[in-house]
Amino acid sequence: MAATIIDGKSFAETLRGRVAGHVTRLKAEHALTPGLAVVIVGEDPASQVYVSSKAKLTVEVGMASFKYELPAETPEAELLALVHKLNEDSQVHGILVQMPVPAHIDPNKVIDAISPDKDVDCFTPANVGKVQIGLPGPVSCTPLGCLLLLREYLGSLEGLNAVVLGRSNLVGKPMAQLLLRENCTVTIAHSRTRDLAEVVRRADIVVAAVGRPLMVKGDWIKPGATVIDVGINRVPAPERGEGKTRLIGDIDYAAAVEIAGAITPVPGGVGPMTIACLLANTVTCASLING
Ligand code: GUN
Repeated sequence: MAATIIDGKSFAETLRGRVAGHVTRLKAEHALTPGLAVVIVGEDPASQVYVSSKAKLTVEVGMASFKYELPAETPEAELLALVHKLNEDSQVHGILVQMPVPAHIDPNKVIDAISPDKDVDCFTPANVGKVQIGLPGPVSCTPLGCLLLLREYLGSLEGLNAVVLGRSNLVGKPMAQLLLRENCTVTIAHSRTRDLAEVVRRADIVVAAVGRPLMVKGDWIKPGATVIDVGINRVPAPERGEGKTRLIGDIDYAAAVEIAGAITPVPGGVGPMTIACLLANTVTCASLING
């Protein structure tokens, strides 16, 4: 039987509705309008689309949006100065610097400059540590989005075997941490993992975040498993016309959908959840900053 399709787009809409409700309450009861500052350096078209979408949805849930578009050649010191200014700005409760930044800028210096109180990406060491020991604060947006989808579909995750493919700081590592907090038995697999297919076949939950199109084959999936595809890979699509492209995930969806119990599509799965979680983190930061 074909898998249930986990509709991230629809669930993200529900989540944004909940965020909007919190914003209305913060405005009415605390005269507080959460504000999100998004900074982009350079003209990467994909990044520009993401940033515009973040700004639009920020306004849609009733929050204040501050957008800074800096030229690609902006000196590192200038970007750091802007981040410091935003740290001090009482109208700003969340700061996001879109990654990747141009090669002459050290991303670690940028992350270090962001006040942990306003770190809506959960990139700073302080917030990564808080997630690890279970203290309140922002949680990495994409992993949080995956977790909310898993909880929505499975309810309790306790005791399940979860395999996370990929060990990035952005997704793989925080995802594994969140699954551990849910009492899953967690395996992190990566490019050096031996017998990867066998490791994945043991998984009740698969989260793929490697950025390699269709890497996970259908026959790697345990029948009935829940499969979350974080990959967003743009590939040529000549069938759509000359020069056209389309987005595909890290999972061979057409094959996996016949075997899994539930699966996220690409697009329309994890992607919309990431932005909804960013907005939720901004409300979290605004609430914590204002006690
Ligand atoms: N670039 C791609 N995804 C992200 C994200 O979640 N946060 C930031 N800051 N940059 C990104």
